Amino acid sequence: TGALGLGLVAGLSGCGVGSTSVNQVAAQPFTRKLPIPSLAPSRVSDGVRVFSLKAGAGRTRILPELDTPTWGYDGASLGPTLRAERGEQVAVEVTNGLDVTTSVHWHGMHLPPTMDGGPHQAIPAGGRWRPSWRIDQPAATLWYHPHPHGTTEEHVYRGLAGLFLIDDDASSRATLPHEYGVDDIPLIVQDKLLDRDGALRLRRDGGEPGILGEVVTTNGIAGAYLPVSTERVRLRLLNGSTARSYEFGFGDRDIQLIATDGGFLDAPLTIDRIRLAPGERAELLVIMKPGEMARLRSFEVGLGGVAVPFAMGGNDAFDVLELRAAASLKPSPAPDWPRSRHADEDELHESAVTRTRAFELDERKINGQLMDLSRIDEVVTVGSTEVWEVRSTVPMPHSFHVHDVQFRLLTIDDAPPPEWLRGPKDTIYLEPSRRYRLLLHFADYADPAMPYMYHCHMLWHEDEGMMGQFVVVEPGDEGAVRAPEHPGS
Ligand code: C2O
Ligand code: CU
Repeated sequence: TGALGLGLVAGLSGCGVGSTSVNQVAAQPFTRKLPIPSLAPSRVSDGVRVFSLKAGAGRTRILPELDTPTWGYDGASLGPTLRAERGEQVAVEVTNGLDVTTSVHWHGMHLPPTMDGGPHQAIPAGGRWRPSWRIDQPAATLWYHPHPHGTTEEHVYRGLAGLFLIDDDASSRATLPHEYGVDDIPLIVQDKLLDRDGALRLRRDGGEPGILGEVVTTNGIAGAYLPVSTERVRLRLLNGSTARSYEFGFGDRDIQLIATDGGFLDAPLTIDRIRLAPGERAELLVIMKPGEMARLRSFEVGLGGVAVPFAMGGNDAFDVLELRAAASLKPSPAPDWPRSRHADEDELHESAVTRTRAFELDERKINGQLMDLSRIDEVVTVGSTEVWEVRSTVPMPHSFHVHDVQFRLLTIDDAPPPEWLRGPKDTIYLEPSRRYRLLLHFADYADPAMPYMYHCHMLWHEDEGMMGQFVVVEPGDEGAVRAPEHPGS
């Protein structure tokens, strides 16, 4: 069976199903209300806020008339939104209800490497895992997803992903839309490739850059609309796709960018579009007038002349979500927030840099090597500040992600980055050939026996080996560095 032609929902071309113009796509109705992931319940016991998550299989109506077998946490697809405050000790009781090994990684979280949920914290089928750590970073929209060795793409693509929101003093005093699901909207964007019987197609056709779907989903379903009841609406946007990058915007209105991966910008920034590679997040404010309709779209991913097969069908634009304003809207104050200072932000100064490392990414390797669970690639001293120079050496972009830290982008090819890339980041789109200089501070959690990961967040690339491991150690502890035992790796 061929891939299902879904021009009516998402716009597509290529793959032998014909093409659908933007206008045809735009003419289609958005028929279902945007589902809002529930807030995960928690209990506080002995000063620890305890959540639980269970990975399992189910069925989802990604399209209105078709059941798709999917995986989810505490449900058929995606997962509840975890929410905690800076300073809180949290724990998550994770149960693997699947019949394959998985793991749960807290993407963007500053935490000990044994709690990180990477490939070394695998949870066998039927198994349990209970990480616990103290939330020690500014307010941000983080997320969680599986990270099992070699099968991350499949697990995320089947539906395992959720948001993890952090609040702090600055975010609770801010004048920003903050009513979850009302004017503060979680928005997980993913693309899916469906067979006619509704099954997720896992086979990639051309190889690169991984699975590119023809259906774009928001919070798990295609063709959703969001009822808007306030003048301003905050979108916490996550590109949870496995391979596709998006150039989000409205076309007919500006947006205010308020936060990137790791938290608030210094001040709201007015932009018309924002590009998000797999793994990246952005918090946006959209201003609506009573009764109007606006469409969040993805435009062609511009790459300075380099053709990259990332937009739907290669080159087009498509609609993502329709926003429908009520006939009268509750007023929202102008956005403002006290600066959310990171305890370590003072260390994030180039003058503190003690070491520079280079990372060259080709088609599948980093610095000429494929991922090896038993090899530690980089040893970093706790408390130090470094510059990582990262570059795709091939005519292909990558999405570079570093665990444990929020970094700052210093320069792209020695020029200051555009303003929308100056916020706290943990994942960054690498345009081909350009050199990105990242400033990172490794504040704590020295452990010579457990590494963190850095990798391409285009998950097929990651699974194929585009990943490396770094450990953080006390000064002088370099000799104690060892990779964890990994039977069967
Ligand atoms: Cu979002 Cu190493 O992952
Ligand atoms: Cu890549």
